Parts: sequence; structure tokens; C-alpha cells
Amino acid sequence: MDETLQHEIGRRRTFAIISHPDAGKTTLTEKLLLYGGAVRLAGSVTARRNERHARSDWMKLEQKRGISITSTVLQFNYKDHVVNLLDTPGHEDFSEDTYRTLAAADSVVMLIDAANGIEPQTRKLYEVARMRRLPVFTFINKMDRPGRQPLDLLDEIEREFGILAFPLVWPIGDGADFRGVYERATKQVHLFNRATGGDTATVASVVDTDSPALDRAFGVENLARFREETSLLDEAGAEFDHAAYLGGDLTPVFFGSAVTNFGVELLLDRILDLAPAPGPRATRDGGRVEPGDSAFTGLVFKIQANMDPNHRDRVAFLRAVSGKFERDMVVTNVRTSKKIRLARPQKLFAEERELTAEAFPGDVIGLVNPGAFAIGDTVTTGPLTQFEKIPHFSPEQFATIRPTTPAKRKQLLKGLQQLAEEGAIQILWTFGRTSPDPILAAVGALQFDVVRFRLEDEYGVETLLQPMSYALARWVRNDPGPDVRIEQRGTMEVEDDEGHRAVLFETQWAARRLTDERPELNLVSSIV
Ligand code: G4P
Repeated sequence: MDETLQHEIGRRRTFAIISHPDAGKTTLTEKLLLYGGAVRLAGSVTARRNERHARSDWMKLEQKRGISITSTVLQFNYKDHVVNLLDTPGHEDFSEDTYRTLAAADSVVMLIDAANGIEPQTRKLYEVARMRRLPVFTFINKMDRPGRQPLDLLDEIEREFGILAFPLVWPIGDGADFRGVYERATKQVHLFNRATGGDTATVASVVDTDSPALDRAFGVENLARFREETSLLDEAGAEFDHAAYLGGDLTPVFFGSAVTNFGVELLLDRILDLAPAPGPRATRDGGRVEPGDSAFTGLVFKIQANMDPNHRDRVAFLRAVSGKFERDMVVTNVRTSKKIRLARPQKLFAEERELTAEAFPGDVIGLVNPGAFAIGDTVTTGPLTQFEKIPHFSPEQFATIRPTTPAKRKQLLKGLQQLAEEGAIQILWTFGRTSPDPILAAVGALQFDVVRFRLEDEYGVETLLQPMSYALARWVRNDPGPDVRIEQRGTMEVEDDEGHRAVLFETQWAARRLTDERPELNLVSSIV
């Protein structure tokens, strides 16, 4: 293998932070960036370019909702490594976007608020990480505030997720009593200093366990507790099992306080040591692409509409999977068999030219080629094989949609088609397409507002939306043929845009009942 390529792959770490809103993801992201040299914000470049439109209607929608819709990819250099941090929107309603971003990550950091423990969004996202077999680090945040007992939190992770929670550090106190963490591998104490403010990348003061500094920092009571807890930990003495972490059976656990930048450096250092470098990726024909393969391949995992109404361009985010990317490369989009010259990333990253001049496996590049890409596309300079599909996530909200003016139906369908390609929405139809009105399916209801807004703004179609009472969908893997109906009371038979059959249910219970009664249908929560 090309030595430069191998070196570049080995020094890359591409990960995403998953958490429930308010656990501190934005704060942790900001602190991580303090450790990076030149910070490059892919999303914010686009944002800056569109600054004039910051006050456009689109942004008004964002502001009205008090959320940030745009997500960014952050890249920074740290200790001779290249860190790609896939930042994901935190708002619950955009979780499908977050899910897709995980398709581009090699590992995740699960961020938990020490007082709240595992929360609904943590749970959902963890399940996706597990489905993708991504190794998981855990960072228990806000230790500077009163929180739950560390053992209790570890126990919760183990019980809920069925994995081993292995504390690589142990916290000393919490809230007003928080004094720092003990790192088990080095048997050293990182002392917490509440006054730092956390605006610079600082090395915490690190001392040995017999240092007199501990007496001063801890006080008698804390010191006694510390000695007792650490001796128990040392006795428990289990070795950290790296293979179990890589296999998703164990999560190394850190404790810290993002807002004061405490424990962040330790986390980052261990990510470099322990988290996986970009690895191989499976293809639909059962093969796999190795990062060191000489052909360049990439996976489109996200498409973001550029909110500039004058240029209806869209940015496709491409995760480099193998080989070296160079600007002006001609690749084939395997789905469409079309050849495309990748000349325009330069435009997107105008201010950070060198970023797009070349990229290596694990990096993310933005491409402004309107219409050329859809989510899940594989592009390559090599053999025409496609990566496994990115699964859709089971929608939980359904509504029929039609134009207020019937004559606008064509525009409506065109707009919906494009929005579906971006992954903003899924389109369903009544079974056999008995009704002309499409059914929109989404993970969160806010997606409906966004779609309606964009249909009006970008495609000039005003729409009427009729919410439906269904709460989940199951796809029929073994289609019994068009003559066999599956519908029962309180369900609705539908088909998706590709003609796959599905059934909508009002309750989990109804879905379970049909699954039990008709095992031959093989009902699944998403079709890959
Ligand atoms: P999110 O992206 O996960 O939604 O969370 P975000 O970072 O915005 O943090 C949510 C709130 O939690 C913020 O407070 C933030 O300052 C606080 N926070 C984050 N990390 C820590 C921590 O380690 N300790 C403590 N005590 N607080 C933390 P806020 O009041 O909502 O905003 P602000 O007034 O701080 O701006």
C-alpha cells in the first residue's frame, strides 16, 4: 500500500457526539476545538457565504423554532492526528439527519448529563450506533454540579445497553465537592480547577496519588473517600479490553465538566489512542472496500439544501472511504453511471483551499453538484460497486399532502421528489396508488413544517397537510402479491416510492399483534 496513504489513514479519527439535548454537546464540541490548530468548519463556510440570507425566511423559520438546522463537519489537527468531528443537530425532530451522520462516523462519543443519566435521545442514538457496530466512548458531563452516583450511572449504562461500562477515570466527588478524576492506567490524579473558565486548552495539573497536593486539594474527608474508592478500583483491577471496545461490547467511561474544559483533553487523548482509524466498508455485492485501496471511493451520507433561493444548489456531503481524493478528479456515481468531475469543492471551501485540494479516508468533503447525488450514493474512480444502503429510520409521523391549487400537482411531486432525495422526508402512497395524494412520513413533525415551507419557497407550491393518526410503519419483507391484502382494523396499507409494501399502525401493540399473527410476511421497521 502507498505509504503516504497508509500514514494519513492511520492518523485520522472520525467520530460524532451523540447526546440528549442540553447534555452539553455544543459545549464539548467547542472545547474539543480549543485543542485543534486551524479549525475548519465546513457548514459554517456555507453559512458565511449566505450571510446575506441569514435574515431570509428560511432563517426566520429556524429562529422561530429556536433551533439550528444546519449541521457542520469540523476538522482539526491535534498531536499529529487529523480529527474529523461530525457535528449533528441536537434537536429531536431532526434525528433522521443525525442518524445518517452516524453512517459517516467510525466511532461515537456518548455524552451523558451526570444528573440525568441516560435520556430518550441518548437511547435512540445509541441504538443506531450499535446497529452500525460503532465503538462507543462515554463522557459523563457536568460533574461540577451535583450528580448521580458514578456506580449508579455505570450500572444504568450496563443494564440499558447490555454492554460493559469500564471507567478509565474515576471521579472524586461531585458538585461543589468535585475535585478531579483519577486515571486508572497511570494511577495519577487530574485536579479540577473551577476557576479556569475553560477558554484555553490547558493541561490539568496532574499529580501522583501520594502527592501532598492531594491533601490540600481534597481535605481530610474527600481524601479518605478517594483512597478507599481507588483501592477498590485497583483491587477490582480488570484490564481494559481494547478488542471488546472495538467490537462494541464495552464502553470506556470518562467523567468531566465540559464547561470548565475539565476532562476534555483526557478524552481527546484517549480517542487518539483507542478509537479506530477509518476502516473497510461493506458493499452490496458482499465485498468490501479497504481504506488503503488505490481507487478513490466515497459515500454520500447527507445532502443539505443551500438556503440561497437564487441558486438552488445543494451540498452533498461525501465521506471518503478509500484512496486519495484530489480536486478535479473524475468519478463515477455508481447509481446513475454518470461520470462527474469533482471540481467544485473548491468553491464551497473557498477560504480553506487546501482542505479540498486533497482528502483521505475518514475525511468529509462537500460537493456542490446540483442534482447529481442522492443519499447513499457511492462515487468511485475504481470498480463500479456500491456501498450498503444507509437505512431509512422508521417514521413516526404521517400526513397526506396536496396542493391548494390542483394545477400545481406536478410541481408538488417534483419538489417532494427532490426533498426525498435529500432525505428530508419519505414519500408513501396508498396501496395500489388508489389516492393521488402522497403521504409524507417523517421521524419528527417539524420535518413537515420544513417541507411545506420549502415547497412554497423553492417550488412555489402552497400545500394542505392532513395529519394522520398512525404512529409507526412496518415494511413487508415477504410481499404476498397484490391480491393478498394485509390491512386490519386501525391499520393502513401503503407502498413506498420504490413500490415496497408497508403497513401503518396506530399503536406499537397493533404492530406487534400483526407481526405475531402473520410471521410469514416478515414485517420489519425499515427496508434497507
Ligand atoms: P447541547 O448542545 O447538548 O444541547 O448542550 P449545550 O452545550 O448547549 O449545554 C446546555 C447547557 O448546559 C448550557 O447551559 C451549558 O452551559 C451547560 N453545560 C454544558 N456543560 C456543562 C458542564 O460541564 N457543567 C455545567 N454546570 N454546565 C454545563 P445554558 O444555561 O443552557 O446556557 P449558557 O447560559 O451556559 O449559555
